[in-house]
Amino acid sequence: MAVPVPAAERAAWLRGEIESHNHAYYVLDAPTVPDAEYDRLFRELQALEAEHPGLRTADSPTLRVGAPALAQFAPVRHDVPMLSIQTETDTGPSGALNFDARIRRELLLADDAPPVDYAAELKFDGLAISLRYENGVLVRGATRGDGATGEDVTQNLRTVRQIPLRLWGAAPPLLEVRGEVYMRRDDLERYNAAAAARGEKTLVNPRNAAAGSIRQLDPAVAASRPLCFFAYGLGAVDGWEMPKTHAGVLDALAAFGLPVCEHRAVLAGGEALAGFHRRIAGLRDSLPFDIDGVVYKVNSLELQCRLGFRSREPRWAVAHKYPPQEALTVVEAIDIQVGRTGALTPVARLQPVFVGGVTVTNATLHNADEVERKGGICVGDTVIVRRAGDVIPEVLGVVAERRPVDAKPFVMPDACPVCGAHVVREPGEAVTRCSGGFSCRAQRIQAILHFAGRRMMDIEGLGERYVERLVEFDYVHGVADLYRLKLDDLLDMKRRADERDGTVPETVKAGQVPTRWAENLLAGIAASCRPSLARLLFALGIRHVGESTAKTLADWLGSFERVRRAPAPLLAVLPDIGATVAAAIADFFAEERNVAAVDALLAEGVAPADEHAPHPGLAERLAWSELYGALGVPKLTPLRAQQLAALVDGSRLAAEGVNGAALSSGGLPGEVIDALAHWLQTPGKRGLLAAVAMRREELVAMLPAAVDGEKGPISALAGKTFVLTGTLPTLKRDAARDMIEAAGGKVAGSVSKKTDFVVAGEEAGSKLEKARELGVPVIDEAELLELLEEGEKE
Ligand code: IVH
Repeated sequence: MAVPVPAAERAAWLRGEIESHNHAYYVLDAPTVPDAEYDRLFRELQALEAEHPGLRTADSPTLRVGAPALAQFAPVRHDVPMLSIQTETDTGPSGALNFDARIRRELLLADDAPPVDYAAELKFDGLAISLRYENGVLVRGATRGDGATGEDVTQNLRTVRQIPLRLWGAAPPLLEVRGEVYMRRDDLERYNAAAAARGEKTLVNPRNAAAGSIRQLDPAVAASRPLCFFAYGLGAVDGWEMPKTHAGVLDALAAFGLPVCEHRAVLAGGEALAGFHRRIAGLRDSLPFDIDGVVYKVNSLELQCRLGFRSREPRWAVAHKYPPQEALTVVEAIDIQVGRTGALTPVARLQPVFVGGVTVTNATLHNADEVERKGGICVGDTVIVRRAGDVIPEVLGVVAERRPVDAKPFVMPDACPVCGAHVVREPGEAVTRCSGGFSCRAQRIQAILHFAGRRMMDIEGLGERYVERLVEFDYVHGVADLYRLKLDDLLDMKRRADERDGTVPETVKAGQVPTRWAENLLAGIAASCRPSLARLLFALGIRHVGESTAKTLADWLGSFERVRRAPAPLLAVLPDIGATVAAAIADFFAEERNVAAVDALLAEGVAPADEHAPHPGLAERLAWSELYGALGVPKLTPLRAQQLAALVDGSRLAAEGVNGAALSSGGLPGEVIDALAHWLQTPGKRGLLAAVAMRREELVAMLPAAVDGEKGPISALAGKTFVLTGTLPTLKRDAARDMIEAAGGKVAGSVSKKTDFVVAGEEAGSKLEKARELGVPVIDEAELLELLEEGEKE
């Protein structure tokens, strides 16, 4: 049946429109129409083709989706063989210089002849393919295969949106384009995250992803993979007046609408090539796709002809590699490490392999699920290891074909390998944990290392080696023991460790025992005993309490005692502290072992140096409407909590229980009252509410302003303006500010006639001068503290 002319014209117009939107979206990354408009055009073309099958041309964008699966790929003979490229494995600058010297030799150039021009580009790490365009239409796409014969993968290549189905402009009768199909790293990560969420297998790396996707018999699979393409050369060509240079060819390909990588240059001589190699090395980690080197090609096509080929490689090109970021190695063992929180982490011990510029011998496997997801890693497996940039090495996956028959699958142990306690894995959690807590030596070591860390107590000199020995030889059980260590303990410890390891130094045998290291370590420990409150809280290793949560606790509650005595709901009203974190903190301080450890620490004289009054903003947060909301009573929504607070406060509710009639006449729905009554009858809850009420009252009493209409004491500092300058002897500036504000005063940034006091510390500068000029009273820290105390008494 003949196709009516208007339909044919419309279809041709639609094909052009859709493909130009495709190019804008996938190649230029600059969409020209909204998705809905694109979909409309696409559906219109599909409908036209369904009505008139004669309109289905080889360049129709509808072919990018939904072609039927194949039984096998047909072989394709390449008219011009797909050659490989010689590799320069010297990854230093001489790799470039050697290539230039060879080219000059083969071209018989004199030493003083001008430098040769080269086209320099990236060596993409994907799959080489050949695209055949006849009269501008993509008619066939093939893999390289053995170079002479590849596979017909046209259907799959049509799904790659960056590959034009029709060339732009005046295309020659025949043009074969050679290039690389690849996957961007961000696309791979996104694809893998979605695949993992669906419970499907993930792709190992971009190269395997590209190769695996193009070699799928079902084009729907290829269509689901986010692939990209770069053109870098030519195959068979007919009826085209060729540009004179390789760079010119790439420009022409770009003008035909093919994606050509922007990182390319024409450079004169070997030094310039070495510079390109160096520059791209610096760019490598920030490129969105993987490269394994750069490629230099003699730019003049005439010179390329003169140089010709040697067996299966052109003489005019070379790949100049970078140190590999991925390598194959063998898993020799899988050990279990036990961390501070008891997490059991499988760690692969690897046959040493040089990758990403370092020798890698270990890689974490994270947890049992990850081991499974990466192909069920076994001891004996050959695995792909990656280390890019400064990122820690990772095992990407298993090379299945190389699995030995006696490979031993990894099994998560059911007892802690360090202390023997049973392990637990909570439902929905990926992590398996040792239940041994502080009695587990591994957890103890890690807890002490955390405590001593730079951002925690910052104990200088207390590294892994000493902590391990101190715990192993029983000098230290808990962190408090650190502060009881004597010089003799440390010397004893060292002697025992040396004897056990057979490493007693000659000097020691001769009776000279070095003591300097031990004195330094003791000094480091002693120097750590007045940390800031935030550091001390962080150092305790409370679950979910990182640096910023520790700071919140310190800023708002101001003292260690107030933090440790705060019930969970009271913590949960602080900024950025949710129910889980609040519960973890309260649980920590409720646990007997922790109470003992903390008390022991305080008894050794460890105490925060910057305790201060609670944050004045606490008044608002301690309103019963907030606290009720944080109790976790079912059905007590924020709105209902507010209603309840208006009817009864927490201390009365704890003392008298639920007065259903009163609450009901106050407008609280029956189901909320029931839920509340039921909650209060749950063991422990009434006591919790009473504790919240009591701690709340204590805190409120320390605050300057009134809460809930009760009038607090009016301080002598109320309304007074202070300016802080210089370094105060003990108070941090924030702490001083909080104390002044808590007493009802204000802190200003600059001195004026309205300033009541300037508090000056060491190295006070221009503000002090200004105060003297204006006759504003200047006080020091001690005087400020006196003022604050007087304020409290009044
Ligand atoms: S040119 C005649 N240029 O490297 C030279 N190849 O062995 C033909 N490759 O797998 C290759 N980036 O796919 C050339 N900019 C580039 C390349 C490149 C990557 C791949 C190619 C093949 C291997 C060459």
